Amino acid sequence: MKTATSHLLAIESSCDDTAAAVLAEGTLKSSVIASQSIHAIFGGVVPELASRDHQRLIVPVVTQALKEAAISRNDVSSVAVTYGPGLAGSLLVGVSFAKALALALDVPLVGVNHMEGHIYSAFIEGDYQTQEKPPFPFLCLTVSGGHTEITIIEEGFKHTKIGRTRDDAAGEAFDKVGKMLGLGYPAGPKIDKLAQTGNPLFHHFPRTKSNGFDFSFSGLKTAVLYYLQKMPEVQRNEVLTHHLNDVCASFQAAVVDVLITTMAQVVEETGIRHIAVVGGVSANSALRNQMRVFGQKNDVSTYIPPLKYCMDNAAMIGMTAHFKLKAGITSDLTLNAEPNLSV
Ligand code: KG4
Ligand code: ZN
Repeated sequence: MKTATSHLLAIESSCDDTAAAVLAEGTLKSSVIASQSIHAIFGGVVPELASRDHQRLIVPVVTQALKEAAISRNDVSSVAVTYGPGLAGSLLVGVSFAKALALALDVPLVGVNHMEGHIYSAFIEGDYQTQEKPPFPFLCLTVSGGHTEITIIEEGFKHTKIGRTRDDAAGEAFDKVGKMLGLGYPAGPKIDKLAQTGNPLFHHFPRTKSNGFDFSFSGLKTAVLYYLQKMPEVQRNEVLTHHLNDVCASFQAAVVDVLITTMAQVVEETGIRHIAVVGGVSANSALRNQMRVFGQKNDVSTYIPPLKYCMDNAAMIGMTAHFKLKAGITSDLTLNAEPNLSV
């Protein structure tokens, strides 16, 4: 019997990745991502170029996702789309496309919050090592380019945000520090790679804590800047030439330390012993390893998605929509792009 969740087509276009995925009853059948490379030469995402590229890529990407799932357009039983937060022009491309398709096929439309999408990425294939999926309620640490948040996730789409960043997001700190070190954009993966051969004790950067479970990363970013600026030029050149990996490892250690220490406090105070770690920065190898070690030592279960679902993708949007459909939540055709949507 055809139900809304039989062949759910999901679309993601909030930033610089045009992505589409098909899920059949919550099982991923295809996931296609076209990452826009044009932005790298500008050192960051250029919104106007991003929306134009989404327009160029959306039809081929969706066609490919349907093909890989071995279904035709008429088999699609619901259409999910990211409607915020993100770049207005980019979101509009996906939202307009999804609305038109849902209307033409006469199937349900499901608007998905991108940040909720990251949260439910933990369910696509489960944890990258154990394949286990988080049981409700669980704690979710979302670390991406624009957000650093801690949320309690309960069954039936109940989300309570208990921590957020006061200034820079964790990914933003990686990208800004990477820029200072001449690593280009996005710098997270490059810092991660360099740090693997570096000494995290080379320099002690501050582990700044904000109130409660909130984060603050702008002080750490400034500390790296001052560390480099205060050195005589000869020494700076020496450090950047021979100790780039050590500086990366030391900076990364500070970020990971703050994230894990805060999660330890959250576990202590809430008594919830299940933690999902999602978003682009959850691809960081030190964070993945140390989160796991923290979990093993403290009897806390951790759920970290496989690398391919840490970065922006449409599979996570589809998984979120699957949960929404199961809870009877759909959108109507008044759905609009909401660049500043919060969770
Ligand atoms: O979730 P995401 O793909 O996009 C947003 O919704 O923001 O996250 C992108 C962020 C970028 O800041 C990027 O530098 C960071 O994730 N990132 C990493 C790693 N891979 C991506 N940061 C640290 N280590 C990584 N391996
Ligand atoms: Zn994202």
